[in-house]
Amino acid sequence: MQETQLSPRIASEVSGIDARHLTTASFELLAEVFHRRGVLVLRDQHLNADELLGFSSHWGTPWLGPMLKATEGQTSVATIRNRGKTGTVTEYWHCDTSFSSAPPAITMLSAAQLPAVGGDTMWCDQYGLYEAMSDGMKRMLSGLRAVHYDKQRHKQLEGRSPSDESAAHPVIRTHPVTGRKSLFISGQAEHIEGMTREESRPLLDWLLGLLGQPDYVYRHRWRVGDLLMWDNRCTTHYAIHDYGDHPRFLHRVTLQGDVPR
Ligand code: SIN
Repeated sequence: MQETQLSPRIASEVSGIDARHLTTASFELLAEVFHRRGVLVLRDQHLNADELLGFSSHWGTPWLGPMLKATEGQTSVATIRNRGKTGTVTEYWHCDTSFSSAPPAITMLSAAQLPAVGGDTMWCDQYGLYEAMSDGMKRMLSGLRAVHYDKQRHKQLEGRSPSDESAAHPVIRTHPVTGRKSLFISGQAEHIEGMTREESRPLLDWLLGLLGQPDYVYRHRWRVGDLLMWDNRCTTHYAIHDYGDHPRFLHRVTLQGDVPR
């Protein structure tokens, strides 16, 4: 097994692993890399929906959540496909389904069909953003909770009603596995608990403006066969829709998370 760091702060590619036949020893090595780097890439895996589900069972319990509809014939695997620029629901900085009381811990994708160029996805290191803050800002944020809503709740998603769930989460959370603190903010955060939207806006705008700073970002150029997984507890991501009508198709599994603390 060989690890190659894909950006200085987050994301590593690991080679020499067959995701269909993961031994306990190779799982432990992958888990160490994943928790240190937040985004893990395995190339040339070509997992179908069942195989992705099999791989995911090493990492946790599948959770579809209110946003996703299972692929036909599946109960826990969803599909990412091109809904057009106006139909996309993932082209902004977010962590998955943060408007749920216990947002998913991990998301994994297996790339089946991609545009010849474009359709990259970016991830931002939320540990790094927290660690770069002044002690005064860290102290102030540590008492605050942001209220997250389904940002896409005005869109009708493939015949399903948008979610009207919302949840308040700490702006700084501690990762349940690594024990590290990170910023936990997402484009789904609409106001600070106990404050009006107007009062909250300047602080939220400042925090949301931190997401996507180039020094903290890894941008993934997908290849068919890629298996990529990310940690929603310490990263945010942004799926760029710059590929018009070209087909883009990935299998997706999300895994249950816990209440952020
Ligand atoms: C997502 O934001 O969950 C989708 C990522 C992607 O389409 O690359």
